[in-house]
Amino acid sequence: MASDIYRKPIMFALVSAVVILVGTFVTMFIPMMTPQMHPRLENLMPYTPLQLAGRDIYQREGCNNCHTQTVRPLRTEVMRYGEYSKAGEFAYDYPFLWGSKRTGPDLARIGKKYPDAWHERHFENPREFYPESNMPSYGWLKMHALDPASVRSHMDALAFPYTQDEISALQGRTEMDAIVAYMQVVGTAVTKKAGGDVKPRVSAPEVRNPLAGDPAATAAGKELYGENCSVCHGASGEGDIGPSLVDGMFLYVEGDLEDEDYFEMIYNGSEEGNVEAGRVMQGGMPAFGEELSKDEIWSIIAFIRTLQGK
Ligand code: HEC
Ligand code: HEC
Repeated sequence: MASDIYRKPIMFALVSAVVILVGTFVTMFIPMMTPQMHPRLENLMPYTPLQLAGRDIYQREGCNNCHTQTVRPLRTEVMRYGEYSKAGEFAYDYPFLWGSKRTGPDLARIGKKYPDAWHERHFENPREFYPESNMPSYGWLKMHALDPASVRSHMDALAFPYTQDEISALQGRTEMDAIVAYMQVVGTAVTKKAGGDVKPRVSAPEVRNPLAGDPAATAAGKELYGENCSVCHGASGEGDIGPSLVDGMFLYVEGDLEDEDYFEMIYNGSEEGNVEAGRVMQGGMPAFGEELSKDEIWSIIAFIRTLQGK
């Protein structure tokens, strides 16, 4: 009789254990084996040897004690850092480096945000860009050469593909090259996804700068320029990490563009391969649309025009 089992405690315990185990297996372990549980974004690539070496340095230096690499799907985070993190981004991350402490900003979308030269200078001395920064200086990474043999054995252990040429190319590269290469790839599988998640580019509200020639706006623009732009474009727009703003060229082509194009460049930033007025961007100009108001952007443009003597 079926109800007999209730009077046999040992039998009852055994049978219930088996039932629970079968349930666990069916609801947990079987799904774990299915591909849906291991998503991978279409354009996510395994790390190259140089990027992997950089990732190792990131772990060794404990960068994830101060930086997270995950954007939560909250409005404020998405506004600040960009598209929220997807499970499929981390398919090649062993171990993942999401972190849990944000002494510094999240780095999930750092890839391609700045030019390489920006990173090098920032690693050498974060205080040069942000006087209050408590990020340690990592200039000494330049003095440490990479060891191709150890990178290679790490690639083997993780079953990452590499070519002999890529491994040989590590000869003479430094840990600085590696950490910069790693920074430039983090999060790019998502930002480069065609359509959908990428933020649409915003067009300028007016063709002409409504604040052009306004002395108060120009003074405010000078201040804002000093805070936001001079690190890359030089104190008087002469160019440094970013191109010169006073040489009559715009995006590497002779011939200046309208205020409208300046607005769009500053608001949206640049992305490699995008085209503005038929000119191709190389990328590396950050977007300021969420940090600066429209009037602030127009003030900066008014100031840049005075630098150009217009
Ligand atoms: C003691 C905490 C701390 C450590 C350790 C640290 N950082 Fe930072 N990091 C910061 C702070 C604070 C900022 C913001 C100010 C600045 O940019 O210097 C920052 C900024 C950055 C930025 C610029 C982010 C942006 O969007 O502008 C990058 C890139 C970065 N860190 C990478 C690293 C890497 C790589 C390491 C390890 C080699 C590291 N950090 C170690 C605190 C830290
Ligand atoms: C992290 C470095 C960086 C910062 C900060 C930066 N820029 Fe740029 N900027 C660049 C780079 C790099 C380019 C070239 C973009 C490209 O090729 O896609 C550029 C291009 C431009 C251009 C196009 C001009 C030309 O001659 O090609 C303008 C205008 C511009 N920036 C204005 C600004 C203003 C205004 C600010 C401050 C609000 C600013 N930038 C802050 C790096 C920067």
